[in-house]
Amino acid sequence: MPRKMRHVLWMAGLALGLAATSAQAGDKKELIEGASAQMLAAQCDGCHGPNGASAGPAIPNIGGISKDYMIEVMKGFKAGEVPATIMGRIAKGYTDDEIAKLAEHYAKLKWVPAKQPFDAKLAKEGAKLHDKYCEKCHEDGGRKAEEDAAILAGQWVPYLQFTMADFLSGRREMTKKMKKKVNKLIKAKGEKGLHAIVHFYASQQ
Ligand code: HEC
Ligand code: HEC
Repeated sequence: MPRKMRHVLWMAGLALGLAATSAQAGDKKELIEGASAQMLAAQCDGCHGPNGASAGPAIPNIGGISKDYMIEVMKGFKAGEVPATIMGRIAKGYTDDEIAKLAEHYAKLKWVPAKQPFDAKLAKEGAKLHDKYCEKCHEDGGRKAEEDAAILAGQWVPYLQFTMADFLSGRREMTKKMKKKVNKLIKAKGEKGLHAIVHFYASQQ
């Protein structure tokens, strides 16, 4: 997806997200003990939603992702290794300590799958391809928050599409083993195979 379009998409998401943000009254104990993590996360709510369930399709859901993955990707944003329209700038504003706190906070939340359209026929084909090429690391149909892998089932389609495009072009580096599997898939099925897998993830709501 062209950068400009991504920008427009997340701006739209931002507007929606801000409208949806509401003051949440936690109990008193949580306010005292968890104030810091809560306060930090409040700065993410506008885009990622109050529970880490993003309002816009170009902004990924983050509620329920693993602590390890969150830390890794935030450090990647900070170092400029993970391509980003906005997170590079945002991540630079947080210390490693604060990132760890944020990661702990989001890991405790429940993952909310995106309500979005999908093609049922493609999803069926994608399920088979996922089992063959991706399930080894993205377990349980991409639902499991594995140590250092992300949750894919129920993630927003536009986000997954531009992320896969970043991987394929080399802008974002894949782990060696993932790259091997993705290359095998592309060789066997072309980019259409990936497209089908993305519909499979979208179908899990
Ligand atoms: C202005 C909107 C905005 C704000 C505020 C924001 N994000 Fe993001 N976030 C995005 C977008 C858009 C992406 C996709 C990458 C990109 O293009 O920057 C993203 C991606 C991410 C990802 C990667 C998810 C994945 O599956 O790889 C994480 C983690 C994340 N953000 C965490 C945070 C945290 C923590 C905060 C608060 C400290 C925050 N974000 C604040 C818009 C935002
Ligand atoms: C050998 C393990 C492995 C295999 C096989 C694998 N992945 Fe991954 N994948 C990972 C890891 C680890 C990460 C997170 C770290 C990173 O950024 O590289 C990841 C990240 C991703 C992300 C980014 C998620 C986000 O929120 O930004 C997508 C999308 C993805 N994988 C799709 C796939 C697809 C589709 C397949 C099958 C064609 C696949 N992966 C196969 C290990 C794997």
